[in-house]
Amino acid sequence: MQKIFVFLMVLLMLPAVCAAETSEVFPVDKELFPYYPSLLNMEKGGVDFTPPQTCGGCHPEQFEQWQGSVHALAFVDPVYQGELNKAAKAVGTDVTRQCEGCHTPAGMMQGETDGAGFSGLTDMAMNGVSCDICHSVSGTTHWQTPTHEPENGSLVLAPGVDGKRVKRTPFEPSDGCGGGFHECEESSLINSADLCAGCHQVYHYEKHFPIESTYQEWKHSPYAQRNIACQDCHMVETDTFLRVADNMEKPDREEYRHYFNGANYLLYHLAKGSAIKAGDEALAENLDHKYNMAVKRLQSAAGLELTPVYNNGALIELKVRVQNLRAGHNLPTSLTNVRQMWLEVTMRDEEGNVLLSSGTLDDNGQLDGDTRLFNSDGMGDDFHFAIDPWVITSFSKHETIPPRGYKDVRYAVPFSAGENVQVEVRLRYRQADQKVAEALLGAVPDDIDLKKTYGLEKVPALPVVDMVTKTARLETAE
Ligand code: HEC
Ligand code: HEC
Ligand code: HEC
Ligand code: HEC
Ligand code: HEC
Repeated sequence: MQKIFVFLMVLLMLPAVCAAETSEVFPVDKELFPYYPSLLNMEKGGVDFTPPQTCGGCHPEQFEQWQGSVHALAFVDPVYQGELNKAAKAVGTDVTRQCEGCHTPAGMMQGETDGAGFSGLTDMAMNGVSCDICHSVSGTTHWQTPTHEPENGSLVLAPGVDGKRVKRTPFEPSDGCGGGFHECEESSLINSADLCAGCHQVYHYEKHFPIESTYQEWKHSPYAQRNIACQDCHMVETDTFLRVADNMEKPDREEYRHYFNGANYLLYHLAKGSAIKAGDEALAENLDHKYNMAVKRLQSAAGLELTPVYNNGALIELKVRVQNLRAGHNLPTSLTNVRQMWLEVTMRDEEGNVLLSSGTLDDNGQLDGDTRLFNSDGMGDDFHFAIDPWVITSFSKHETIPPRGYKDVRYAVPFSAGENVQVEVRLRYRQADQKVAEALLGAVPDDIDLKKTYGLEKVPALPVVDMVTKTARLETAE
């Protein structure tokens, strides 16, 4: 009797077990992806990774350009370390391996990293996305990933072949290429967007929901159609980037630089504080240069157009058009649920009395509730708002602006007693909401002392960049 009961129980449980196995939305080939949920792969070829300082000995220009870059800081970044620490506590190494695969590929694959913190790590691990990560890429697994798209580090890294170091270059190798230290191998992958794709396309570690989609946004853009790759805008000086974006033409061979400059001026700002604390003036100056480049890039990314709207001859609305002029992907991109880009609009009558104000920051660095933000809101399985990448499995809204596209926002003009209306519109940007930044920097592991390393007594008001400012005088009657 009991046996039959147990048998029945087993029978009843079977469908549940099967359902659990087949309910995996995207089946995963665990043999191909031994570091899952990171999709990195390594073919060591009998050779260890080489730390960037060694490469820099023979390639000083590339080293100086890369040093202090967001790639160089990708692992030590205190904002990352804060979030990584939270991830480790919430989910454990199931998720941190995924993070580390992109933020310190060598550290993760060599089994050095174990969540947040720096203790016992080699130079190779501390230096994030360094020379020997990109120049060891021998192939991709973009088509074999669970989503059949590039995601979560779908790259194959082969630092060596048959016991010899091999570095990939987009050019036909010169005689003696590598100076006896390494061999050179020509690879078209190096200057293609596919090199960047695996890391710049971040999916939820389990559900494979695309949380950061820079690569996909670019792939469906007019830039991709004209073969303008990530490198053509992010591995050049600012003037070259402007020419590339406006004329859709590729840079010349000698114009490439290793800056990987994007929008994260806050990280350069923090790192500069740390270089000053450490007495490294050259590095502080280097970081200052990168800070200015990021600000300049943001200030050339967008355009604003102001148009008054009349009804029966009377002014009723202001139409603000925000254009993505020069970003090769959506504006903003990547961490769209964390970055903030918004409109600040002020309307005044002729005496200067404020008629309307929207998008102003209060004393605590908070935006008013009806601010028009161009961002996304993450949503968890329970359909509630979520901010952490291990919780987000969809977006409840996504308001970013496509490449070469625009979004219109309309503001009703308040009653102005027949007077003309003076408006000022600013498109503003910061890395995160003040409270979000405070929470992340408050969660850094014990190895990071914000005061000792960065000279921060407390998290300061996050710097805001004005991307574009426009003023206009609106006639009340047409
Ligand atoms: C597929 C590669 C990839 C994975 C996996 C990944 N990241 Fe990132 N992460 C990035 C890229 C690329 C950026 C830069 C985006 C930007 O600057 O807009 C980034 C930026 C960040 C930032 C912002 C840093 C700053 O200074 O503003 C944080 C925080 C972060 N990641 C945390 C994590 C955590 C925690 C995980 C694991 C749950 C994770 N990342 C997994 C690629 C990845
Ligand atoms: C994020 C990936 C990435 C990282 C990190 C990286 N490189 Fe490169 N590197 C590239 C790409 C892409 C090119 C090809 C640029 C082009 O088309 O000319 C390149 C080109 C080069 C070249 C050929 C000459 C030139 O400057 O174009 C050398 C030498 C080089 N890299 C050395 C280094 C060294 C040394 C480091 C570390 C200090 C480094 N790279 C870090 C991606 C990377
Ligand atoms: C002992 C000196 C030495 C070291 C160390 C060294 N390289 Fe080189 N490398 C050279 C020489 C010499 C060339 C030939 C072309 C040149 O001068 O840039 C070269 C060429 C290259 C090229 C091809 C450039 C081109 O124009 O096609 C790449 C990419 C490269 N190295 C990357 C690296 C990386 C990454 C490291 C560290 C893992 C490294 N190198 C370490 C000496 C060195
Ligand atoms: C036509 C030039 C252009 C191309 C091509 C381009 N970008 Fe950008 N990128 C920009 C500009 C301008 C910004 C600054 C505005 C912004 O944040 O979107 C930027 C910003 C970024 C940021 C920082 C986003 C943030 O707000 O934190 C990342 C990361 C990035 N790009 C990666 C990439 C990758 C990866 C590719 C290729 C798949 C690429 N970009 C192609 C111009 C370009
Ligand atoms: C091994 C993974 C990896 C590869 C490959 C990679 N990146 Fe990144 N990249 C990252 C991570 C991680 C960050 C963010 C680090 C952080 O914010 O702490 C980043 C940051 C950046 C930023 C700075 C964004 C900002 O907000 O300022 C730019 C620009 C960028 N990458 C461009 C590129 C380009 C161009 C390529 C291809 C040539 C590339 N990346 C290849 C992992 C990678």
